[in-house]
Amino acid sequence: MKVTVVGAGNVGTTCANVIAHRELVNEVVLLDIKEGTAEGKSLDMWQTAPINLYDTRIKGSTNDYAATAGSDVVVITSGLPRKPGMSRDDLIATNAGIVRSVTENIVKHSPNTIIIVVSNPLDVMTYCAYLTSGFDSKRVFGMAGILDTARYRAFLAEALNCSPKDIQAVLMGGHGDTMVPLPRYTTVSGIPVTEMIAADKLESIIQRTKVGGGELVNLMGTSAWYAPGAAAAQMVEAIVRDQKRIFPCCAWLQGEYGHKDIYLGVPVKLGKKGIEQIIELKLNTEEKQLLDSSAKAVKEVMNVLDGMQQPVK
Ligand code: NAI
Ligand code: 2OP
Repeated sequence: MKVTVVGAGNVGTTCANVIAHRELVNEVVLLDIKEGTAEGKSLDMWQTAPINLYDTRIKGSTNDYAATAGSDVVVITSGLPRKPGMSRDDLIATNAGIVRSVTENIVKHSPNTIIIVVSNPLDVMTYCAYLTSGFDSKRVFGMAGILDTARYRAFLAEALNCSPKDIQAVLMGGHGDTMVPLPRYTTVSGIPVTEMIAADKLESIIQRTKVGGGELVNLMGTSAWYAPGAAAAQMVEAIVRDQKRIFPCCAWLQGEYGHKDIYLGVPVKLGKKGIEQIIELKLNTEEKQLLDSSAKAVKEVMNVLDGMQQPVK
């Protein structure tokens, strides 16, 4: 099987590296617009294969989409990252242009592929790829929920002094400060988290999770890459191994949770066909209100994209 990662920056290279180290597919193509960058990084990564003992072939390409032909999955990470003081939404105009042109090229060379969008603002860039590709929405979705949930789980593991492996959680909504962590669906090896942690401590972890991306931007001057790259690779794994795993992903809603024509983070089942099911939880009134506010914020940015250009479906 073959996976293309577009954007050989921090997130793209991390994602390609994880895919190769875990031998998820036979071939990974890393593509970037910057002359020589993808080739150089791919060559460097490929030279770790004899040390780390994997067979996955990593190849680089400077904007030559012929090299990506026949990809089973494409991960789009191309675009500007956040800088301090920028919201994800500030990136919209530049990144929409990039995501649109990348998607057009991908569709030409891999008409049957599944597209995972990572570029920000995530929910709206996923919408942009969906409109541009003309694909069924089951084959176009975004990565954010796995990352945001991983941050929430990592903070909880630290606070509870337990293994992050034992924390299970669901987080919904847009990839922004309105995201909705769900304590009612958070367990520690099956034990409701609310029985393990004081309410005020849990609330402060929820607040920290919501601005978890910003915390890293402030520390590093650019956005995160280890966890985002690994999260995108985990989605690739679920697809290429047809694992039917259940993850929060940015999916096209057609009435689920009372929302229509919107990309929003919800739990889905991921397998070889892409999104094979959208799982509808029975949210209580407060949870539903939080999800609705998050949807409203995402819709506002989708409307900005709709007003900027009219990609034809
Ligand atoms: P980066 O700046 O390290 O890498 C971006 C790469 O995209 C650069 O190498 C650039 O040359 C390339 N690029 C730009 N235009 C291109 C085009 N037309 N074709 C091919 N390549 C092109 O940025 P980083 O940190 O890797 O972040 C990438 C994107 O992912 C950003 O938009 C960032 O905000 C987003 N992100 C999203 C997350 C999520 O949870 N969804 C988490 C972390 C980052
Ligand atoms: C993150 O959450 C900025 O979306 C990026 O790290």
